[in-house]
Amino acid sequence: MYLSETPMMTKISPLLAALCLGLATPALASDTKTSAPTLEWDSAELEQALAHVAQGNPEEGQRLHHYLYCSACHGTDGNSPSRNWPSLTGQKPDYVMKTLLDYKQNMRRDHYRKANLMTQVAQLLDTRQMADLAAFYARQPAPVVPPQTNHKLAKQGARLAQQGDDKRGIAACSGCHGEKGESGITPDTPALAGQTPEYFIQSMKMYKSGMRTSDVGGVMRMFAQPLKDSEIVALAHYYASLGNAQASARLAQTEAR
Ligand code: HEC
Ligand code: HEC
Repeated sequence: MYLSETPMMTKISPLLAALCLGLATPALASDTKTSAPTLEWDSAELEQALAHVAQGNPEEGQRLHHYLYCSACHGTDGNSPSRNWPSLTGQKPDYVMKTLLDYKQNMRRDHYRKANLMTQVAQLLDTRQMADLAAFYARQPAPVVPPQTNHKLAKQGARLAQQGDDKRGIAACSGCHGEKGESGITPDTPALAGQTPEYFIQSMKMYKSGMRTSDVGGVMRMFAQPLKDSEIVALAHYYASLGNAQASARLAQTEAR
């Protein structure tokens, strides 16, 4: 065990209780900064930071996921129960580890202030715990197809995702995120299959406006730039539709009972 139960509980409970009730903690309420962060990774630093991922223990990650109330927002198994929070099941461990480091280092601030919430949460984690959590999420299958997925819009997004648009310098998303959004080209490229459209859209808008600078070398900022809002929405529904269909069917059956 890496944490002593009592100090951690007293440290985290007021924060999470407030967050879960939808109230801002004093720290969040007074935090009105909206300017873009300036901190950015260089590839060598990132590689070094991600060396811990290999040691991640999924059992310990599962315990932490519940113990630290990650489950309250991201779902019992990391499959988000709400359109407001991203799903984490099936996410690539290197990406999760990098992202938790991003939050901890304040690289993912945004004007919706949702990222600020995770920035506070990540302060409580050390790199070993991050690696354990990452191993737990990676072990689960991709998230279910979110209920709000619009399959008509999904069809519109498919072409752009698979072929990109040469004229506007947009590479095929699938070239990096995988044919089925399962991720691919590098371990820190996130899976997108089954992600909630709201979170996807928000992320793309953050890249487009330059608010989210966590993408090494600015790749996502570059591809998001020429996209119209309607295209971002179609892409979001396309990737949502690639969620785990079998798990979705099982869920529908259980709910029908
Ligand atoms: C009160 C709700 C809440 C709690 C508790 C919470 N999260 Fe989050 N989490 C969010 C929200 C909202 C986002 C999206 C923030 C953004 O827009 O950057 C997020 C984003 C993330 C991401 C990034 C997802 C991605 O695809 O980039 C990771 C990883 C994550 N959370 C892990 C955790 C872990 C681990 C814990 C527990 C230690 C936790 N979260 C606790 C709400 C929560
Ligand atoms: C050259 C490779 C590459 C291409 C092409 C690419 N991406 Fe990405 N994408 C990445 C990487 C790497 C990240 C992680 C960046 C970070 O850590 O913020 C990312 C992050 C994202 C995220 C944020 C996911 C999350 O969980 O927060 C979304 C959404 C996304 N990409 C969508 C797209 C779409 C849509 C396209 C096509 C228009 C695309 N990407 C093309 C490499 C790529």
